[in-house]
Formats: sequence, C-alpha cells, structure tokens
Amino acid sequence: MSDKATLKYQDKEIELDAITGTEEETGLDITQLRAKTGLITLDPGYANTGSCTSDITFIDGEKGILRYRGYAIEELAEKSTFMETAYLVLYGELPTTEQLALFEKQISDESYLHYGMKGHFEGFPDKAPPMAVLSAMLNVLSCYNTDLLTTATEGPKFTVPAAKIISKVRAIAAWAYRTSQGKPFMPPRPDLSYSGNFLHLMFSQTFDMYEPHPDVERALDLFLILHADHEQNCSTSTVRMVGSSHASMFSAVSAGVGALWGPLHGGANCEVIKMLTKIHEEGIKPRDFVEKAKDKNSPEKLMGFGHRVYKSFDPRAKILKGQVDAVLKALNISDPLLDIAYELEEMARSEEYFIERNLYPNVDFYSGILLRAIGIPVNMFTVLFAIGRMPGWIANWREMHVQSLRISRPRQIYTGATLRDYTPMEQR
Ligand code: CMC
Repeated sequence: MSDKATLKYQDKEIELDAITGTEEETGLDITQLRAKTGLITLDPGYANTGSCTSDITFIDGEKGILRYRGYAIEELAEKSTFMETAYLVLYGELPTTEQLALFEKQISDESYLHYGMKGHFEGFPDKAPPMAVLSAMLNVLSCYNTDLLTTATEGPKFTVPAAKIISKVRAIAAWAYRTSQGKPFMPPRPDLSYSGNFLHLMFSQTFDMYEPHPDVERALDLFLILHADHEQNCSTSTVRMVGSSHASMFSAVSAGVGALWGPLHGGANCEVIKMLTKIHEEGIKPRDFVEKAKDKNSPEKLMGFGHRVYKSFDPRAKILKGQVDAVLKALNISDPLLDIAYELEEMARSEEYFIERNLYPNVDFYSGILLRAIGIPVNMFTVLFAIGRMPGWIANWREMHVQSLRISRPRQIYTGATLRDYTPMEQR
C-alpha cells in the first residue's frame, strides 16, 4: 500500500507523505503544500490538524485510551504518585528510587515564594479570580528568576525553572486563596507530600496545623495524576504557541493558565458544580434540565459532557467516578449533588441526542464532586487542574524546543473587503 497521497487542484498536483506514529495514527504531511501549490488548508478549531509529533501522551478517543509515555492512565492512577508521574511526563521514563528522591527534594526545596511576592498578592482585590491571580503571578515569578528566562532543554537552566514552577504553583494558588480570605500566608512544610503540603498551605491556621486525612491526600494526588497531561488541547497548544516565539517557560505556562480558565476547557469543573447546585437548590427536575441541554435555543449545556477527542467514555471520568464513591464513604460524607450527577449521566447515556453525538461524561463531570468532598472551594477547582497540568505543559514546551520547531504562525483565508479608497469624514 502506498504511503503517499496525491492532491490535485486545477492544474496543480502534489504528493503528500503519510506520517504514521507508533500507534498507527496517520497524518498527511502538508509542510510543502503552499510552497509547491500556493494552497493552504482551512481547519477552524484545528480538529483535523496535527500541529506536531509528540512522544508524551497517547489518546485513542474512540476506544477511551489515555497513556502517558506509554503507561496506561489506569495503572498510573492505581500505582503511582503525582511526583512520580510528573517525573515520567517531564523526562520520559519512570524514575529510579534515587532519581525520584532527588526530584522530590528539588521540588520540596523550591516550595517557598520570595517574600517580595507578598506585595503583589496584596495588590489584588479580594474578589480577584484565582485563575487571573495564578496567571499573573507565574509571570511575576519570572521577574525573580531573570537568569532562567532561556529555552534550555537540559541541565539546571531547564530543571531548575521546571522544579520552581511545579513547586511554587502550589504556594501561589494557596496564597491567592488566603488573600481572598484575608488570612495570613503559611510557610510550606517540606516534610509533607506534594499534595499534603498544598492542603497545609491552603488550610492550616497559625496555631492549628491542618493534618490531611490519608484518603484526602491520596484523592488529591490522584486528581493531579489524572490531569498531568492531555496532548494538544487548547491550553497545551497555547503553551506551545507562546513558547514557539522563544518566550520563557514562565510566560508560556502563564498563558496556558489563561487558556485553561475558559468554561469549555478547564473551567468546566466549576461549571459542573454550579449546574448541579442550581438543579439542587432550584428543585429543577434532571429530566427538564436534560431537555434544555438538548434545545439549541436554550443557553444550557450539560457541562462535563462531550469532548473534542473522546468519542466514548473519558477514561479519567471512569476512574474519578469510582474514587468519588470511595472518598465520600471514607470521609462519611453524603453529597446530594452526586445523586443528581448519577441521574443526569444515566439519562444522557440513554438519550438519542447524546448517543448519536458521542457525548459522554468527561474528566470534569466527577472531579468537582471529588474536590468539593475534600474541602476545596469551587473557585479553586480550575486552579487545581492547572497545578496538575504543569508537568504536561512544561514537557510539551521542552519537546518543542528539543525538536527545534519553527515559530507557530497559522495562515488564514481573508474574507474581508477588497482594496477601497479612504472615505473623507464628511462623506461617511
Ligand atoms: N451538552 C449538550 N450538547 C452538547 C454538549 C453538551 N455538553 N457538547 C456538545 N454538544 C453538542 C453540540 O451542540 C453539537 O451539536 P450539533 O451537532 O447538533 O450542532 C455536537 O454536540 C458537537 O459538539 P461541538 O461543540 O461541535 O464539539 P466540540 O468538539 O467543538 O466541543 C466541548 C467539545 C468539550 C467544548 C463541548 O462538548 C462542550 O462544550 N462540553 C461542555 C463543556 C465541558 O464539559 N468542557 C470540558 C471538556 S474536558 C476537560 C478539558 O480537557 O478541558
């Protein structure tokens, strides 16, 4: 079978190489298309566009498969920690005991924020959205590390900023939350795990140290593992786009936070809880809500359903669904929102509208209920997603520089006015 495709347009013809990945996904290489034919491709939303080749994450959306560096998400969720997974995503291999200890120490040593950053936090109003604070403060972090604003992919010029971002993002998130609560900042506790330290930074009081329940700590770690990477989604593509101009790792991940914030992407985890709360508090029948979500004239959507890539169950949602039950039981909590979520899911999965459009629960459908159960405030949900995604964003930023990719610069088909004469003011 030929591994070339022929494209004919009017009197022009070009042979396009087929590029096949290790999992037999195939794409047509159009890098010479414009040079040889003057044509470009048009693909708004990039649903059919491969922007890179990547060794980091594999998704088969039809079969509901997700793997980081070849390891199944189900196995990592069961056996790994967030630190181990972060190392895997960043460096390509599971760490040895020594490598993991070194990595954890590096992360732990970077848990403090420069005290000068306190003034920046104080400048934000109480109601500042935490995602806005996070994005801004990641750029502020670069101001304290001007010697690290490089595109290095090896050695301390890469490992140090990567560790700083993965570690300090916790303190930035917790300080943002505490500022909004008018509470003083807590110094980090390097003796705790990555997730335990974050919970401490969020919830400890000066004379009342927060001691996380092991199930809570594990549930948060699992949440972070499930969010560590997800190939070329909106925010990761943003990180690559910004990084492609050779902007620093700090500004690239700061831009990633901006992209993640939107309700169609990471912001959906807040929207799911808002939706379930509204249904609960206003006594809306789930059946009526589902009908509204199907109605094109209604603004309602079933938040936490649908995905650009998954056309079957999002494997992360499957894992989370199981965990939510276990965590609620372990903590002896019952959440009426969970019952509503089950009911919505059951209905949506038997309705033709959802079946024919392949709309299944995505990662955000159950993650909000899990985060709520472990005491995370709703406006911090997307921040937690961002904390989990840092290793993936940094790994993609690194891979792009290792491959020496060109600056990202798509083209367009112009559909505006053709050349016209300037009209003097009095004639308009
Ligand atoms: N509720 C009702 N209808 C929906 C939904 C939904 N949640 N999602 C998609 N549809 C319909 C949509 O109206 C369209 O119908 P039609 O073909 O009749 O016009 C069809 O399904 C295809 O949807 P689309 O909007 O073209 O799909 P997309 O790939 O452009 O968007 C999505 C994917 C995730 C943005 C979208 O499904 C959505 O808005 N879902 C709700 C928000 C959400 O949960 N986002 C989190 C995504 S997972 C976490 C992450 O990685 O960010």
